[in-house]
Amino acid sequence: MIKFTLLLIFLSITAFSNTITPIPNHLKINKEKAQLGKLLFNDTRLSRNDTISCASCHFLKEGGDDNLKVSIGINGLKGELNAPTVLNSVFNFRQFWDGRAKTLQEQVLGPIENPVEMDNDFKILVPKLKQTEYKQLFLNIYKEGITKESISDAISEYEKTLITPNSPFDRYLRGDKNAITKIQKEGYELFKEKGCISCHHGINIGGNLYSKFGVMINPDIKNLGKFNLTKNENDKYSFKVPSLRNIEKTPPYFHDGRVSDLNEVVKLMTLYQLGRDISDAEVFKIVEFLKSLNGEIKVGKE
Ligand code: HEC
Ligand code: HEC
Repeated sequence: MIKFTLLLIFLSITAFSNTITPIPNHLKINKEKAQLGKLLFNDTRLSRNDTISCASCHFLKEGGDDNLKVSIGINGLKGELNAPTVLNSVFNFRQFWDGRAKTLQEQVLGPIENPVEMDNDFKILVPKLKQTEYKQLFLNIYKEGITKESISDAISEYEKTLITPNSPFDRYLRGDKNAITKIQKEGYELFKEKGCISCHHGINIGGNLYSKFGVMINPDIKNLGKFNLTKNENDKYSFKVPSLRNIEKTPPYFHDGRVSDLNEVVKLMTLYQLGRDISDAEVFKIVEFLKSLNGEIKVGKE
């Protein structure tokens, strides 16, 4: 009896967590801070030699990433990782592929001081910005003026505006049965039946748990993922499960940008993560479903 009750509890927990929830149409934000954050996000003066801004690698109108295999930062230097989108990043439980930043505020500090991205140092950046119009803009909002913390606070407030609500699939979830096509509905059923939803669920259809890349079959990867932070053997090749929102717009895919074709990604996921076969017709339907996850990008409207 106890076992049966435990099983029931387990099933209801997994059933609950394996659901997809729509993105809210608005988040509460502080408008003044978000406007300042928007200026900073687009300003190349945040980099050491005034050439790179956040927007250089996160194109908001094209899915929020840079469409490159791996990003190119200051002086043409290449990183090792594919840029994830900034869109909807506010809903991720952690930031970066290995989840090393717990919050968006913490994440911002990474690229600004990363030697192959913006290569700056807050000890140089803060006095530099104090010589500019930002001095007053910050004082209007933050009594302490420009600091590392106020810079990251403003940028992360702006990032809260970079959400993509109202996708056809979200409208479907909210009750508009005609918001997605028959094929997309079949794709959604396959997404659940095959087991994709066991990792890709929640508001971002990912972004809320870690998983090994290659649960069933080893895909031969170099980056150690979460192991880099924890040094725990079990965390080798574990990554934050990426969000599938707007996924059609953010090729190439995977942490190292190894695959550009979304059909191929779906095939590999079925093989590597689930150890199963999938027909071309099934792949087609799942990819059609994934296209229903493209939301509205409100860039410039806030
Ligand atoms: C040179 C290209 C480049 C620049 C400049 C850059 N990023 Fe990124 N961004 C990346 C890459 C690559 C990653 C993934 C790095 C990792 O996981 O270790 C990333 C990750 C992120 C993430 C985490 C998303 C997720 O799902 O984990 C956010 C948020 C983000 N960047 C915002 C910003 C902001 C804000 C700035 C400016 C302060 C910025 N980026 C500047 C390339 C860039
Ligand atoms: C056991 C967990 C798990 C399952 C099951 C799973 N995925 Fe994934 N998925 C991941 C992880 C982890 C990654 C990131 C791998 C990497 O790049 O290191 C990923 C990446 C992806 C990507 C690329 C995202 C990007 O931005 O690069 C797509 C698309 C995707 N999965 C779709 C699917 C589909 C469709 C299914 C079902 C056939 C599926 N996944 C099943 C964990 C899973």
